[in-house]
Amino acid sequence: MGALEKEGLAETLVLAQLEELARDDVDWRGGRILTGLYDPGRGAYELSAQAYSRFLTQNALYINLYPSAGRMEKDVVGSLAELLRGDDAVVGNMTSGGTESIILAVKTARDHARVHRPEAVDPEIVLPVSAHPAFHKAAHYLGLRVVVTAIDPADGFRASVDAFRAALSANTILGIGSAPNFSHGTIDPIAEMAAATAERGILFHVDGCVGGLYLSILRRMGEQLRDFDFSIEGVTSISADMHKYGYAPKNASVLLYRNRDLRSHALFTCSSTTEYAVINPTVLSSKSTGPIAASWAVMRHLGEDGYRRIARETQAATRAMIDGIERIDGIEVLADPDMCMFTLGSTEISIFELDDEMKQRGWQLLPQFACGGGPANLHVSVSSSNVPLVGAFLGDLAESVASLRERGPSVDREHFARETARLKDCPFEELVMHLAILAGLTGSALPERMAPMNTILDLLPAETRDRMLAAFINAG
Ligand SMILES: Cc1ncc(COP(=O)(O)O)c(C=O)c1O
Repeated sequence: MGALEKEGLAETLVLAQLEELARDDVDWRGGRILTGLYDPGRGAYELSAQAYSRFLTQNALYINLYPSAGRMEKDVVGSLAELLRGDDAVVGNMTSGGTESIILAVKTARDHARVHRPEAVDPEIVLPVSAHPAFHKAAHYLGLRVVVTAIDPADGFRASVDAFRAALSANTILGIGSAPNFSHGTIDPIAEMAAATAERGILFHVDGCVGGLYLSILRRMGEQLRDFDFSIEGVTSISADMHKYGYAPKNASVLLYRNRDLRSHALFTCSSTTEYAVINPTVLSSKSTGPIAASWAVMRHLGEDGYRRIARETQAATRAMIDGIERIDGIEVLADPDMCMFTLGSTEISIFELDDEMKQRGWQLLPQFACGGGPANLHVSVSSSNVPLVGAFLGDLAESVASLRERGPSVDREHFARETARLKDCPFEELVMHLAILAGLTGSALPERMAPMNTILDLLPAETRDRMLAAFINAG
């Protein structure tokens, strides 16, 4: 847009312009997005939009002006605490998402350690390589060290308990496990990990951002799952997002603490400036009550039965997808998941070329790079809107795989590997330029076919890859 228009535009014109801006966005209602879309279906969606806009302007910071925000937050937090088998001592708050909940959980551990673990002079958090990047971000922001431990590809890429236990030290202030990890949808051995931290008086956080609510519903439906919640004594905090499989719109997550004493380390207060006194239980200060109201509305509308119905349908669709993939020669599901998310890999075709083929057919999957002993893969998170399209998905997948097997690779990975190895000691700007040419990048727009770029990124060491991605975003 550039400079501010001198005269404002009519409402209809602005709305038309917004539609124009959205022209290239994917159709999120179309059922072909297989990642990051958590759709509750029409009724609940419309209701959440209404609730959101009803409370759009109310600032949840001002609890004196808008007591409704606090009441709704208490209800949502209470429901999650109950689902996650917390007792009456468990308390919590709503945040803007998984990342904020995680940053807050790590900050709580840091400040708790300052009081209770003076031996932790160089504080560290210990987490499996499958833990979400938000923990690395939290450590980066909070000046903490990250100790990464191994996962076991033979056990569904779950954390290795031995590696985790061996990494704990006098400096450890927080252990972390996922329920489930996003990449493969498998639950870490939380009971064993939390026992190891509890033995040493160390806090333990469960990242249930994607699965906390969904897995609790599955457990209530009788699914045999390993434990992951407050029923495990050593678990001291849990994050669970409403804006994922809680089916609320963004931005909404919940962070639960074992008790108030622990939460006291999350709080920030400041009354020593000319400004009003700030008392924040979360990272954000001013925030719309919209996401809190929408979460509240969706929870009340769906109820346990609604969540069960969606979980039943989504689980059946996931199983049908996994069974269908097993029947397609040339690809495989890398781990049997604990919920409706999984990855597919191949030793025969390029997974990145498969991603492009599927994109051509309208499907959005999520490529993940080789890591932690596992190969590059395509991630799938199944949601309600995908349920009617399982057959179409499997048909397009089979066709894409068959065409790639017949045609052979169009990206010469061996050549790319030789080139990235040859260029590895170049100055960074030169490296970026050479690799951009190799990937066929022109200008700052992403190419239609991402396989060359993804292959290069997959071949690079993570540190170089991070620098390249940052340079790309910074140039945009
Ligand atoms: C397991 C897990 N933790 C944390 C996050 C971060 O959540 P957000 O994107 O809401 O910040 C995600 C996001 O996908 C996740 O899957």
